[in-house]
Amino acid sequence: MRIAFFSTKPYDRRFFDALNESHGHEIAYFEAHLAAETAPLAEGFPAVCPFVNDTVDAATIDLLAAGGTDLIALRSAGYNHVDLDAAARHGMTVARVPAYSPHAVAEHTVGLILALERKIHRAFNRVREGNFALEGLLGRDLNGKTVGVVGTGRIGAVVARIMAGFGCQVLANDRFTNADVVSLGARYVDLDTLFAESDIITLHCPLTPETHHLVDAESVARMRDGVMIINTSRGALVETQAVIDGMKSGKIGAVGLDVYEEEGDLFFEDLSNRVIVDDVFSRLLTFPTIIVTGHQAFFTTDALEAIARTTLENVTLFEQGQTSGNEVVGG
Ligand code: NAI
Repeated sequence: MRIAFFSTKPYDRRFFDALNESHGHEIAYFEAHLAAETAPLAEGFPAVCPFVNDTVDAATIDLLAAGGTDLIALRSAGYNHVDLDAAARHGMTVARVPAYSPHAVAEHTVGLILALERKIHRAFNRVREGNFALEGLLGRDLNGKTVGVVGTGRIGAVVARIMAGFGCQVLANDRFTNADVVSLGARYVDLDTLFAESDIITLHCPLTPETHHLVDAESVARMRDGVMIINTSRGALVETQAVIDGMKSGKIGAVGLDVYEEEGDLFFEDLSNRVIVDDVFSRLLTFPTIIVTGHQAFFTTDALEAIARTTLENVTLFEQGQTSGNEVVGG
């Protein structure tokens, strides 16, 4: 099947080309983001393959449908950027990669927690400049601390397991109880209790209208003084200004972000020769107790292989008139 890839990077080609040898699809790699302006590039392609910051809204989908596309094969788990109703109106199938490596994201999450707690990002710079002073690098043991995990699906459950391994008390919040998480000794609590009792709060729920700005000024006010907030899920779970205000007042002790509300204008590109015009993002970077990574939590060889394998299987099964079980529907 002919597949138009959008937002393609060299690493996408590497993994997809290798795995496509056994599928034989005809892939066209476009560097452009998918949006209404670029949708005509996909004319005549029955399948398109967008990434997380592509704009797969109704206008884009209308144009894709007019161009003969009937499959949107996402190479991501999240699908909050796709207008599923618009796809359904055109009878278009949307498939995703529901699980590729929860470990990749969970381990990056724990990496942020460890780095922030022990100020490794600051120590790295200091030592390179010949500064071996410890003042300002004081951390806390993770053992015995309370970690609140919001969303205990695939990724959240792995984070809960790793943190339990450090000797943390795990509090969990989800619409469903995950027996594996309960077996760690974790306690399911309502969101208010999780916010009030956690030393570290880490977000692993999807972005939905319900979870939009889950962390805002009002919820920050209910958290422990000096709380650490980690978001490796989707940027808009966190209201950035509330985090900035919380850091300024000292209410929030540390923040680790792999995602950012307005990341679409920044992430996945080398902007080092340009001026960052997003003042809110620039303000975020001024705090010594914040680490921002550019949506790289998924970025392991294991995960990229799994993403390529499942995406291509989704396309092959669609071409054969079969379902993969990875289709997403609105509602
Ligand atoms: P999953 O679907 O296995 O788990 C999500 C969990 O969140 C489910 O248990 C669900 O019941 C729960 N949930 C839904 N609404 C909730 C709410 N209002 N409050 C509390 N819990 C709620 O998804 P998975 O694979 O664990 O991924 C989680 C998120 O991680 C994805 O939605 C995606 O946005 C993000 N992600 C980020 C990546 C990165 O590179 N930074 C890579 C992959 C995923």
